[in-house]
Amino acid sequence: MASDPIRPFSSKAAVVCRAVGKTWAAGTERAHEALRGLDLDIAPGEFVVLLGPSGCGKSTLLYMIAGLEDLTGGEIWSFGERVEAPSPDRSLIFQETSLFPWLTVWQNVSFGLSLRGLPVAERKAVALACLQRVGLAEAMHKRPDELSGGMRQRVAVARALAMRPKVLLMDEPFAALDVQTRAKMQDFLLDVWRDSAASVLFVTHHIDEAVALADRVVVFTSRPGRIKTIVPVDLPRPRDPFAPESEALRRQLTLLLRDEVDRAFAEQEAMTA
Ligand SMILES: Nc1ncnc2c1ncn2[C@@H]1O[C@H](COP(=O)(O)OP(=O)(O)OP(=O)(O)O)[C@@H](O)[C@H]1O
Ligand SMILES: [Mg+2]
Repeated sequence: MASDPIRPFSSKAAVVCRAVGKTWAAGTERAHEALRGLDLDIAPGEFVVLLGPSGCGKSTLLYMIAGLEDLTGGEIWSFGERVEAPSPDRSLIFQETSLFPWLTVWQNVSFGLSLRGLPVAERKAVALACLQRVGLAEAMHKRPDELSGGMRQRVAVARALAMRPKVLLMDEPFAALDVQTRAKMQDFLLDVWRDSAASVLFVTHHIDEAVALADRVVVFTSRPGRIKTIVPVDLPRPRDPFAPESEALRRQLTLLLRDEVDRAFAEQEAMTA
């Protein structure tokens, strides 16, 4: 049977998803469809936020783009190459920081470079430069348990930057932080992003965060996750969260998401009834 031709795409695109699907435990009685028929193109340097109900497959999509998880349908491409394995070009930052507690801050930041076999002096210099960018140069010899939650997340960002990724995948990186620290981290991330020219794919549940950060917001349906709609955010930066345009966008996204969250809850209730 001939498969559908895939929609053409630019080899310069940072990430291309074509008909991407994922069924966990496919072919078994525990088969569980997380994502279905997803088409998405991310431009170089673009900041894209993924928004959707819990369990709709956002983390699954990031893992697949990172090359950490196999697809069960479709294809993912990055800068003209098929994604089939992890690459230093694509860094993933998890919701819970995963720093090594027995290493110092600079050793954590340069860990990926040590896997590449870089000499220690060079690794230390790169780590220092990245820590300067996240405002933590003076914490370089500390250990992760001596830092606050916000500082640990900044170290995680520095570690991702040390690999000079072209695509930064961020899975609810600031979710565990208080509102004020989160706002600071958003400003800081926008500064880092501007300097790095990387594309960012950022998952959040916070609509205000989506409006503060995104060039485009991708709204997912409830599971199996599909793209419900893509909302462009044409607001100049730095953004004023109190501007009527920001308020209107928050309202639009809230309504779009509410439908899907209701649907997801109804489905869960039906399954447990
Ligand atoms: N390793 C796994 N094995 C089996 N099923 C999984 C696995 N990881 C996730 N799932 C299922 O796949 C679906 C999508 O999960 P995923 O973690 O991608 O959702 P999410 O959109 O990131 O949710 P949240 O917003 O709560 O983080 C869920 O129904 C989840 O139960
Ligand atoms: Mg998730």
